[in-house]
Amino acid sequence: MSQITVSPSQTQFTAQPNETILSAAIRNGINLPHSCQSGVCGSCAAKLVSGKIQQSGEYDDYVLSADEIAAGTILLCCSQADGDVTVDMPSYAGAKAIAIRTLPARVAGVDIRGDVAILTVALPKAPPFQFYAGQYMEILLKDGSRSYSIANAPNQTGTLEFHVRHHVGGLFSPQLFSGSLKSGAIIRLRGPLGSFYLNEDTADKPLILLATGTGFAPIKSILAQLAQTQPTRRVHVYHGTRFADGLYDENALRELLAQLPNTQYTPVLSRPDDAWTGATGYVTESVLRDYADLSGHEVYACGSPDMVRDSKVAFVAQAGLPENAFYSDAFTAHI
Ligand code: FES
Repeated sequence: MSQITVSPSQTQFTAQPNETILSAAIRNGINLPHSCQSGVCGSCAAKLVSGKIQQSGEYDDYVLSADEIAAGTILLCCSQADGDVTVDMPSYAGAKAIAIRTLPARVAGVDIRGDVAILTVALPKAPPFQFYAGQYMEILLKDGSRSYSIANAPNQTGTLEFHVRHHVGGLFSPQLFSGSLKSGAIIRLRGPLGSFYLNEDTADKPLILLATGTGFAPIKSILAQLAQTQPTRRVHVYHGTRFADGLYDENALRELLAQLPNTQYTPVLSRPDDAWTGATGYVTESVLRDYADLSGHEVYACGSPDMVRDSKVAFVAQAGLPENAFYSDAFTAHI
């Protein structure tokens, strides 16, 4: 057992052998900044101050630069403690962060749209459940858990909405598509989790919100939050899918956009049929066609790891986006 200390908040928890420092934090109910848990997004980067770690997972070269590695930066989702360890993570607010809770929820509705189910659950009335727009929950199952982003705004208390893609043979989604998980059933949730959420300190910067597939869910939550708190902010939403029926929640999106007067919306299909007259190709290319200069923007990207990686690299290199203005949540494939 290793003692982990996170400075400057002086948060402490224990890690077991064979678990990553990030997994140990989450197990202890400590919501350290993270997103993908697989070395893709860089959200869990921290500086090793003292102690030794073993790298337990691979990560892409672009996630940490050679200079960051030389300065002792590690990814907590890819590192196991070898004895007691102290890491520096100024982005973690300590006790001010929303605590992770495990709570029951009642299935309130399952709306099947092609291969995506919109799952709505009702939460216990008290104490009120808090989260930041963009965060995700784990659904706890008998044989494991599955993670889904929350798609509604934090002020819609009492309800959570999730967008669940059908994976044949999967651990959770078949229960929705077969109808075996019915309204009224009780499930267990854990969260809120993740550090992909709207930064409201930079309200003057225009936003690019980029989603592929069900990565639209946290983008919808962020839009709903903006409608409440910053309705005049300039926002351009891109939703990329292969076919037109992948735009599975477009009516709700258009209702949100109607509340946000300075928004644009570009659906992007990578395999359009002849009837499609909109944008085609990949969302990253579409953004670069529309914006040669992103130096004054913030980008929130959620979807496949490839899209997240390609977007960050391209926006920084080709359009001058500051690296710290790119926020992402990469959905890693699990069934
Ligand atoms: S790189 Fe560690 S959570 Fe994404």
